[in-house]
Amino acid sequence: MARWYYYPGDETNVLEKVRNRVFRKPVPDFPKTILIETQFGCNAGCVFCQYPQLKDELPRGRMSNAMFEKIAKECAGRGVERFILCLDNEPLMDGSIVEKYAILKKYCPESVRNLTTNASLLTLEKVEQLIGAGVVNEVFLSVNGITKEVYEELMVLPFERTMKNLDAFCDWLRAHPDIKQNLRVRVNVVKTRRVAPEIAQMKARWEDKEGFELHVIDMDNRGDQLDMGKEAPLKSDEGDMHPNITCRRPFHTMVLTWEGQSVICCVDYKREVKLGNIHEQSVYEIWNGPWATQLRKEYLAQDFTHLKPCRTCKINS
Ligand SMILES: C[S@@+](CC[C@H](N)C(=O)[O-])C[C@H]1O[C@@H](n2cnc3c(N)ncnc32)[C@H](O)[C@@H]1O
Ligand code: SF4
Repeated sequence: MARWYYYPGDETNVLEKVRNRVFRKPVPDFPKTILIETQFGCNAGCVFCQYPQLKDELPRGRMSNAMFEKIAKECAGRGVERFILCLDNEPLMDGSIVEKYAILKKYCPESVRNLTTNASLLTLEKVEQLIGAGVVNEVFLSVNGITKEVYEELMVLPFERTMKNLDAFCDWLRAHPDIKQNLRVRVNVVKTRRVAPEIAQMKARWEDKEGFELHVIDMDNRGDQLDMGKEAPLKSDEGDMHPNITCRRPFHTMVLTWEGQSVICCVDYKREVKLGNIHEQSVYEIWNGPWATQLRKEYLAQDFTHLKPCRTCKINS
């Protein structure tokens, strides 16, 4: 079971100390997961994602390789378990993404370097550059639906192009069994009523046939930054949601936008709760700074005064 967190030194009595040592874990002094939006923008229009609704309001740009390298260098040997190079964007749209994964491999060879993608741009050339070259060692594919009708309604992307890429990727893996054996590949599907009738077929296609994992993600309302009422295919999903007040993300994950803002969570795409900026401070300074520490302690006390996205975050788990 996932464990709740505590700050050592904050306990007021022996009972709390014992409870914390047995059932909880201390907030780490360096993030365990780091999510970096290397570049703004996506080519899809998923109805459950806030990107299509916010794309015209948010700043556009790309993180320089120099800034990215500064982050990777600082993370070397600090026990970061996983890097994920996206926020609400499509990482394969970033023309420098191969270089960025290579930088991570150079400084953090022991970490998982995850590619989470909608696969619409996952050509064989990209597969060779990223997976063949070993700079990416975990792949999460976002595929919502097995039929063209459901897929295109939910993701607003051409179905045939993605399926052609995925078929070619599967053939490539079959031709490279040594790589396939060591590569974790997961297909992510966001839990909506529209896709639910297709899950069994998706399982047969991706788990039974290809040997990938199929992961059904609980849909969240992106801290209420996603207007679900706007999206016809989601209309009946809103009633399934309930407040998400036992989230662990702010305790183990650092989220950086392309312009270097550290925000409280991956759902905070409007940059409402900023912890600091990587252009001015180090990862360590931001993570352990007084503001980030105060916010985590407020979360533990269930005080959401300064935590707007958390206050309004709902999930359909
Ligand atoms: C935001 S995307 C970014 C990377 C890439 N564009 C993709 O779709 O894989 C990362 C993951 O978040 C998931 N996601 C998007 N909106 C979500 C929501 N409202 N609740 C839960 N997961 C969501 C996507 O399905 C995807 O697996
Ligand atoms: S979920 Fe991914 S593919 Fe879909 S719109 Fe959001 S960022 Fe783009």
